[in-house]
Amino acid sequence: MNKDLLKLLDLSREDIYKILNTADQMKYSQKHHIPHDYLRGKTLAMIFEKNSTRTRVSFEVGMYQLGGHALFLSGKESQIGRGEPVEDTARVLSRYCDGIMIRTYAQEEVEALARCASIPVINGLTDFAHPCQVLADLMTVRERMARLEGLKLCFIGDGNNMANSLIVGGLKCGMDVSAACPEGYDPDPRVLDFAKTVDDARFTLCRDPREAAADADVVVTDVWASMGQEEEKEKRQKAFGGVYQVDGALMALAHPGAMVLHCLPAHRGEEISAEVFEAHAGEIFEEAENRLHAQKAVMYLLMGEKED
Ligand code: CP
Ligand code: NVA
Repeated sequence: MNKDLLKLLDLSREDIYKILNTADQMKYSQKHHIPHDYLRGKTLAMIFEKNSTRTRVSFEVGMYQLGGHALFLSGKESQIGRGEPVEDTARVLSRYCDGIMIRTYAQEEVEALARCASIPVINGLTDFAHPCQVLADLMTVRERMARLEGLKLCFIGDGNNMANSLIVGGLKCGMDVSAACPEGYDPDPRVLDFAKTVDDARFTLCRDPREAAADADVVVTDVWASMGQEEEKEKRQKAFGGVYQVDGALMALAHPGAMVLHCLPAHRGEEISAEVFEAHAGEIFEEAENRLHAQKAVMYLLMGEKED
């Protein structure tokens, strides 16, 4: 494992499976009240330059359950919001804390933070990637389907941070991945380049959601306008509306028994119909819960005492 978790592109298939196996153990320990305070006395600094419910709560509760402590730093209220360089923030926090979780806009900011910090840095979402969410998604799929390899995962909608991380995570775990995005909203070129290095037949990008969803075992979607794109809301509604929605008709094309995942928050009537959301609420909220277990695994593996 590297020092940091910045994006799934940096992880090997073995790293991902190590995190997923550790996450399953974390979940088992928590459900069976088995003590697992592996980060006793350790502190995680959490920097948020964007809103959050799940990420903030699951990291904070996760640190508590591991016997450590998490502290919340809002971008606006800290000196980060007044322009203190990320390189200085990294060096200061490295003197007080044992790890940093950051949610921000530019991936480059997270990469710079990690380069200058002597402690592990975890990406809690950037415009480019949402690695912790996708680790929880892969965990949820494996729990329900007992495997990842050979399953078909499809993503419908904006080629955003979720699409980028799902394509990389799915392909690294041996899944077949398809994505349907409108023209002009494709996944990041770095991700498409990575997909080309994997056996071609395993990744397809198309415009028609029906083509992407055909025989899928897992159907995933996300909002049409992400945080920071509020001003593009109307333009995006025109580009995605009426076509890029996971609804009953689309699900009828997927494999019978297919799962639906959504990282949340969801906009019913936009990227997902209310009926499909409720029919798959079991998996979607399990996915939300699994953020806790997957991130506890990441924190333990990055911040825990290393075996020599
Ligand atoms: N899925 C997710 O990251 O949720 P939050 O924005 O609430 O953290
Ligand atoms: N794509 C969404 C994910 C939110 C968890 C966003 O970046 O706003």
